[in-house]
Amino acid sequence: MRLFLLFITNVLALFVLHAAELPQHDQQMHMGVASCAASMCHGSIISRTGSNVLQNEYIIWSREDAHAQAYQTLLSAQSKKIADKLGLDHAATAGVCLDCHSDNVAVEYQSKKFQISDGVGCESCHGGAEHYISSHTDAKQSHQANIAHGLYPTDQPQQRAKLCLSCHLGNKDKQATHDIMGAGHPRLSFELDTFGILQPLHYVIDADYKRKKWVGDSYITWIYGQLAANRQTLNTLEDKLVNTNTLFPELSLFDCYACHHLMSDLKWTEVKGKGAKPGTVRLNDGHFKMLIAIAASTQALTPLHQHLSVMRNSLHDKAQLSTVITKLLADIKTIEEAITKLTLAQRKLSASLILSKILTIGSKDEFSDYIAAEQAVMAIDLLIDYIGISKRYQQDIADLFDIVNHDEKYNSLLFAEKLREINNKMALQK
Ligand code: HEC
Ligand code: HEC
Ligand code: HEC
Ligand code: HEC
Repeated sequence: MRLFLLFITNVLALFVLHAAELPQHDQQMHMGVASCAASMCHGSIISRTGSNVLQNEYIIWSREDAHAQAYQTLLSAQSKKIADKLGLDHAATAGVCLDCHSDNVAVEYQSKKFQISDGVGCESCHGGAEHYISSHTDAKQSHQANIAHGLYPTDQPQQRAKLCLSCHLGNKDKQATHDIMGAGHPRLSFELDTFGILQPLHYVIDADYKRKKWVGDSYITWIYGQLAANRQTLNTLEDKLVNTNTLFPELSLFDCYACHHLMSDLKWTEVKGKGAKPGTVRLNDGHFKMLIAIAASTQALTPLHQHLSVMRNSLHDKAQLSTVITKLLADIKTIEEAITKLTLAQRKLSASLILSKILTIGSKDEFSDYIAAEQAVMAIDLLIDYIGISKRYQQDIADLFDIVNHDEKYNSLLFAEKLREINNKMALQK
């Protein structure tokens, strides 16, 4: 009987692993940051030895992590302006803002100590603690069992990507729409590995961690982040462009700089247009460009290019758009399977191939769109580091970050020139 139960829990855990609901919709009671913050739990001032976890997670989060300020941000003058322009009573009580700036679970899942003013707190990422709060302190419990008790699998790269991107890119349920941006909200940009490093670390990957959890590297984290961003973008396109009857599409799905530039600045060329006529509003496709580079490094021969081109030209035809979105999702699955099979040694080779592909496309000025350029810089930085040649390219990387430092001053020709320079330097080193 016990064995059977154990079996069932494991099957359940596996099932949960694949289908984990995002914390905001996990239908568990959310206990509030105060429930995690006791000094014997996660609120120790300094990290503890002799424990499996640091136990000072709360201090790191509250003092250093931007997520702890996410609700306070809604009380700022900038948020007041945004809310006023949108005709909202108050940013800090508006569901559209709280969805990303706090742990905005339904009232029936907010327990006594829960405070919406905690911002993006522990349970916004780790899931409602109702069932794991008592069990997760028991060292005999497996990580899998904790997950079966509602802990969100933040260690799993696909699940982590889905979680971070839900707020940093937006998904079907929540979005920083063009209305919100038009009112003054900053443009969102995200890359899983880079932002994972930017978030102050409140965990260490030690022997105990490695035994229990998935451990990756920057290459594979980047890949899963890109694949998830592509999937999420396609799903949002399906939802907002296909399954909708509004007269005007949601503009944040398109490349901001397709519309926001001077008319004298003639950007269209055959290469950049890729089959689309001049004057077409391009999709926001920075992540698709990275997908092309990833696909090129695998043996998976998908008609990705063709499908992307069909998608760019299907914006007037819902049925065609929907069909091609389904095909692209299948391409992504094939690419993911090919990448997942790689051995560690093959990953290094794959990283070199991806880097070289990004540099080649970029040299041809295909990153004329700022958003794609920004993604390219984060990718080049982490891939060069991963291959182990970052010392030689320190100045080049700094130059690249300078070029994309300010979106309105971005010069794509300068960017292409710099990429050509790096490409030539790499060819010489070979
Ligand atoms: C519930 C929504 C939500 C989730 C989930 C989320 N974030 Fe955030 N994140 C935010 C908000 C909102 C801010 C901005 C906070 C502020 O300044 O008010 C932010 C800020 C950040 C920043 C600081 C950015 C900067 O410009 O300084 C980093 C880094 C970051 N998040 C990384 C991550 C990572 C990595 C994940 C996934 C493990 C993640 N976030 C998950 C909402 C979220
Ligand atoms: C889809 C998720 C999402 C929604 C919806 C959203 N935000 Fe944000 N917001 C973010 C993220 C993520 C950041 C941090 C961006 C970064 O630094 O990369 C942010 C940043 C901000 C900032 C700038 C903070 C700073 O420190 O510079 C303000 C102000 C803000 N949001 C206010 C609002 C208001 C007001 C609303 C509601 C009308 C709202 N947000 C809705 C995700 C969202
Ligand atoms: C923006 C998302 C986010 C927030 C907010 C957040 N965490 Fe985490 N946390 C992560 C990620 C990602 C990891 C690393 C993956 C993992 O171990 O599951 C992690 C890991 C951990 C670990 C695992 C350490 C180990 O060695 O296994 C603990 C414990 C933890 N967090 C506690 C907290 C507590 C307590 C809070 C609130 C004070 C908090 N976290 C807030 C994302 C978050
Ligand atoms: C299809 C064209 C189009 C796209 C794509 C587009 N916008 Fe806009 N945007 C507009 C129009 C039209 C206005 C209204 C301009 C006005 O009021 O003068 C506007 C207004 C704005 C404003 C307010 C400017 C003001 O004068 O008050 C901001 C900010 C903004 N957009 C940001 C963005 C961001 C960020 C993106 C990409 C995520 C984006 N836009 C994508 C057409 C577009």
